[in-house]
Amino acid sequence: MPSVLLVGATGLLGPSISRHLKETHPDWPLTVYFRNPEADNYFNTVVKADKIVHGTFEDATKLGDLAAEHEVVINSGSSFDPNVSRAIIDGMKRRKGIEKGTLIHISGGGNFIDGRTDGKFNPTSKVWNDMNEDDIRQINPSMLNGGADRVILDAGNEGSIKTYIVCEALTYGSAPSPFSSLGIGYKLLTGNAISLGYTPYVGDGSAVLSTIHVNDALTFIYKIIDLAVAQKEVTGSAESRWYNIYGERVSWKDLATVLAKTLHSKGVLPDAEPRSVPLEQAGEGEIPKLIAANMLMKGDRAEKLGFKARERSILEHIPEDLASYQF
Ligand SMILES: NC(=O)c1ccc[n+]([C@@H]2O[C@H](COP(=O)([O-])OP(=O)(O)OC[C@H]3O[C@@H](n4cnc5c(N)ncnc54)[C@H](OP(=O)(O)O)[C@@H]3O)[C@@H](O)[C@H]2O)c1
Ligand SMILES: *[C@@H]1O[C@H](CO)[C@@H](O)[C@H](O)[C@H]1NC(C)=O
Repeated sequence: MPSVLLVGATGLLGPSISRHLKETHPDWPLTVYFRNPEADNYFNTVVKADKIVHGTFEDATKLGDLAAEHEVVINSGSSFDPNVSRAIIDGMKRRKGIEKGTLIHISGGGNFIDGRTDGKFNPTSKVWNDMNEDDIRQINPSMLNGGADRVILDAGNEGSIKTYIVCEALTYGSAPSPFSSLGIGYKLLTGNAISLGYTPYVGDGSAVLSTIHVNDALTFIYKIIDLAVAQKEVTGSAESRWYNIYGERVSWKDLATVLAKTLHSKGVLPDAEPRSVPLEQAGEGEIPKLIAANMLMKGDRAEKLGFKARERSILEHIPEDLASYQF
């Protein structure tokens, strides 16, 4: 019975993953790691987790020691900071036991933006396919999640642990939990629009973004958890255990149009229409680079394992996903 450590338990994915694990594998001891002390009651009474540990992503020693005590570690909370993955992996390598530790990591399609700064669709941009190991080998720390991904791929190839990476497109939808997390994708987009005072797209906004509904992502993540636990030994490279999942590509202009209308109707923004702006006026930090670019990912390997997007488009979902959220 593999013991499982879940990092990022209170986010968009974590509550569902933890409930699913205790429902389908009640005999797998589950430890949940999070920093919000008010979440204890939920994990004790609803999830029925076996152990709760409070800590932050910055507590490298605590995280490493905990990882060392579990056979399976699922990180559904941190994909940007390589230090978190380093701490987890260092701990997993110290684990005493016959079987290798298994790391299941959630990464993001932000890695695959094409670097355009004019907001235009480019039909010749590279499409990053999980079936092509050469594509995955090119993942590097200059990419949004690439620092952590690189650390994990290297550890997987070195062979001391088994690694599985599910790389999800921008994730929408809502998942039942008392913590009402919008997920990092929505948090970035809505936070950016609110701080600008308008909803931006760049140029003609024809550039496309890959998206996935959280239910479709979770169904696949559950499949990978079962697969990873069943595979006692792995052959092949760590790149061959990388899975891209997305459901639909939408243009930034279409997305901004629905987002602007929704934020306006909630009384958060004065305009119900989005604004076409140059890159410099599309927000702070990494966000403009995302909005101005194309994100083209393809998941042939994930599809071969049965991945299929079933949920409705993000363009239909935005109003209901944001309906009950207090900005
Ligand atoms: N949502 C997307 O569009 C998307 C797309 C691709 C990949 N991803 C990646 O998938 C993973 C899950 O995303 P998500 O949208 O489910 O994330 P999320 O809802 O933002 O959840 C993040 C989780 O991490 C916790 N957390 C954040 N900073 C922390 C810290 N310093 N110490 C301890 N805990 C901390 C949060 O806890 P609190 O509740 O205490 O804040 C929360 O449980 C992330 O790695 C994300 O980058 C997300
Ligand atoms: C990672 O750790 C190094 C060394 O402790 C530190 O200098 C760096 O700021 C950390 N990176 C992040 C993203 O926190």
